[in-house]
Amino acid sequence: MTWRTIVEPNPQPASQPGRTKIILDCDPGHDDAVALLLAHGNPAIDLLAVTTVVGNQTLEKVTRNALAVGTIAGITGVPFAAGCGRPLVRSIETAPDIHGESGMDGPALPESTIELDPRHAVDLIIDTVMAHEPGTVTLVPTAGLTNIALAARKEPRIVERVKEVVLMGGGYHVGNWSAVAEFNIIIDPEAAHIVFNEKWPVVMVGLDLTHQALATPDVVEKIAAIGTKPAKFVTELMDFFAHTYKDAQGFDFPPVHDPCAVAYVIDPSIVSTRKVPVNIELQGTLTLGMTVADFRAPAPADCHTSVAVDLDHTKFWDLVTDALVRIGEPSDAVRREGTALTAGGVK
Ligand code: BDR
Ligand code: CA
Repeated sequence: MTWRTIVEPNPQPASQPGRTKIILDCDPGHDDAVALLLAHGNPAIDLLAVTTVVGNQTLEKVTRNALAVGTIAGITGVPFAAGCGRPLVRSIETAPDIHGESGMDGPALPESTIELDPRHAVDLIIDTVMAHEPGTVTLVPTAGLTNIALAARKEPRIVERVKEVVLMGGGYHVGNWSAVAEFNIIIDPEAAHIVFNEKWPVVMVGLDLTHQALATPDVVEKIAAIGTKPAKFVTELMDFFAHTYKDAQGFDFPPVHDPCAVAYVIDPSIVSTRKVPVNIELQGTLTLGMTVADFRAPAPADCHTSVAVDLDHTKFWDLVTDALVRIGEPSDAVRREGTALTAGGVK
């Protein structure tokens, strides 16, 4: 007998044929929560794992939030694992001005009914990619890139096995944490440098795109009309997010960044992209964490990075609404007069 508890890792969940397999690496986070609900509620996505990393708040807080969102959505059979609690090199920087002290302020959060996987997120990512056929697993990071960079360093074979990395982060002409750098990149620029320089396909769904994903009042009303607990949860998230984005960054309506990356995986026609080389600035005093995109044509033949350019706002929000309807909660749904809850949306 040793003093250590031996914990067996959960077996890999069975994958769903014909659907795009993803691992969501996140730091919930209001918009991460919407990304998780979209991934769970969309039939084209096979959510293989959810991993967390320090970012919007401490690792402990964002992990608690991820488990709470999973509980609200009724997610079962998907492993959730906590990852890195600090960036590779820099000190921890969180975003309470945008996401509050809990990292997901606004709605009341339930006690989680989901047990955390005992593995470190980096190991869960590696195990999951290695357990599936090469070219079938897409990584969707919606946070700092610490876990993904470490996974690539710990098991380099994942780089050629991953189908693509579709990440929310960066921006080619705008920043939000400095004049030129975006939060997910600047909080761990060394990790971002690793991820952008590995030879896997990287799609950068940056601020240029996500600032088009505004939760306008018509969108929020449509979500509220669904009437389920998950939909109410999203309207409460958006309410808090609207206030902080107004106060901290002067937005009339909040940009809901992270589900844009999931939406691209579901239906690339919603997000137009352009193939351009992108690299991460690690030296500049004013430009640390900048995602430097080279738009000079033509892109080199071996270019493996693309940037998201234009969003189809209507299709995007229809996807989110549809996912919430599918997640449903029919027994608790508040059916408004003349409102039918269908998988096609609220009619
Ligand atoms: C990104 O930073 C985080 O605060 C959000 O969750 C999103 O992933 C936007 O810059
Ligand atoms: Ca995030």
